[in-house]
Amino acid sequence: MEKRWWKESVVYQIYPRSFKDSNGDGIGDLNGITEKLDYLKELGIDVIWLSPVYQSPNDDNGYDISDYQAIMSEFGTMEDFDRMLGKAHDLGIRIVMDLVVNHTSDEHPWFVESRKSADNPYRDYYIWRPARDGKEPNNWGSCFSGPAWQYDEATNMYYLHLFSVKQPDLNWDNPKVRDEVFSMMNWWLDKGVDGFRMDVISLISKKPDLPDGKPGINGYASFNEPANGPHVHEYLQEMRRRVLEGRDTITVGECSGVTLEEAKKYARSDEKELNMVFQFEHMDVDADGSNKWSDKKMDLRDMKQVLTKWQKGLEEIAWNSLFWENHDQPRSVSRFGNDGEYREMSAKMLATCLHMMQGTPYVYQGQELGMTNVPFGDISDFRDLDSINAYHELTTQGVFSEEEMLRFLRYKSRDNARTPFQWNDQENAGFTSGTPWIMVNPNYREINAQEQMAREDSVFHYYQKLIRLRKENAIIVYGTYDLLLPDDPELYVYTRTLEEEKLLVICNFYGNTREYTLPEDWQPDAMECLIGNYKEVKTGRTMTIRPYEAVVFRRKN
Ligand code: GLC
Ligand code: CA
Repeated sequence: MEKRWWKESVVYQIYPRSFKDSNGDGIGDLNGITEKLDYLKELGIDVIWLSPVYQSPNDDNGYDISDYQAIMSEFGTMEDFDRMLGKAHDLGIRIVMDLVVNHTSDEHPWFVESRKSADNPYRDYYIWRPARDGKEPNNWGSCFSGPAWQYDEATNMYYLHLFSVKQPDLNWDNPKVRDEVFSMMNWWLDKGVDGFRMDVISLISKKPDLPDGKPGINGYASFNEPANGPHVHEYLQEMRRRVLEGRDTITVGECSGVTLEEAKKYARSDEKELNMVFQFEHMDVDADGSNKWSDKKMDLRDMKQVLTKWQKGLEEIAWNSLFWENHDQPRSVSRFGNDGEYREMSAKMLATCLHMMQGTPYVYQGQELGMTNVPFGDISDFRDLDSINAYHELTTQGVFSEEEMLRFLRYKSRDNARTPFQWNDQENAGFTSGTPWIMVNPNYREINAQEQMAREDSVFHYYQKLIRLRKENAIIVYGTYDLLLPDDPELYVYTRTLEEEKLLVICNFYGNTREYTLPEDWQPDAMECLIGNYKEVKTGRTMTIRPYEAVVFRRKN
């Protein structure tokens, strides 16, 4: 397998709005990030993925961009950006930008022009259609509730928006749109950034006839309907030729609706398109059918089956990215672990389970502290438009009661990941001296970076060790993966193999104590513990696996 630095790296995602506020306006900013780069260096990560920092009216917190070559005024200036980039590079940390080009803001000058008249030179930058039987052109729904079409009086036509009304979809079939996007990307790369995380890049190529899809619980077809469209690979190959080729970058595509077969094309190791993709099948194991609004708990067997399918499916062909969290998902300890008595144990267990797989691991800010979901009160505590729109739509339609919907939001809302980073036990968790834009999780007095950096057995130091082990053991990066005990409902056990070397990873996802018997080819006296979340590990042919225990053994030859 080809060795690549981006396979050996660990990526840390920053959601700038919630990371560190430097000027007391309650909103995180670039100078705040610069201030905290030493913290990230200490953690040991190699790459930062910055959620969008471009000029934006913030309908979707920066994922609605009105100027791709300007910094959001709340976050600072281009000089602040350059200073941050310079300091990151001095520390040996690379910076990956979020590339949001499936859509722009409706306040982007291209769209302001586009909606003026049907013969405006920018008209075909977006996707306009006339009404069908006096209504929307098809039955697609927006990811954030309601139809994916907005009627525009000026020209008596509808424009497509797979996300909010303020996020009109770009028309990638127009070569001028591709020219604009590619030259903007080149501008950022010339400035020195190291790559891109590409927002919903699987959705950029729509089938020309925009066919109806199967309706979901709110009556609309999924926003994922256009996933993996007819020209998506062609456009990404063009991007590779016109932007990325000859540059040493890292690229990861957010590919909602991606299948294994499609992922092999996006992320093939011949590097004609992207280095890797984010797939979401493992984020759906606790959904209620196609509906994410539920508080159903996953069945670990489903999780193992999905992750194993991706581990084995991409082996030698393409490259996986590994994640439990990002700014669109609730906190993993609350969702897949235990955010009560075993919070730290389960945070470390989840980290072990993920970081020992094959692929590039992503750590979302606060995950390295075991930050938890948030005890939000009523709907006024939420800021995320996805959560707020879904609450109103589904309660108005009578699909769920208000209490049910609040329960689901507290469990699954994206806002769980968006409350301020917990730096210390001072007011507002040390995030801001002002009023934070979203509530602080009240558990910051116990869960914060300062406390964890000072304590040897903290989640922070466990992550630090996992990241260091990755640098010291090629098998963690390049070894092949094999699942053991597929039908065990509580233990996730797998091996990694690189030539003569072998690792055995044992993770208990529950609070029960379990017996585990070693595979035939492992001898208790010929193996050593590489890392584990309990202090002492007793090896034997049959071992006792404690609540939320994670342990990794290396076979001695
Ligand atoms: C991606 C982003 C999400 C955003 C959406 C629209 O899924 O991760 O935060 O709301 O795209 O840009
Ligand atoms: Ca600020």
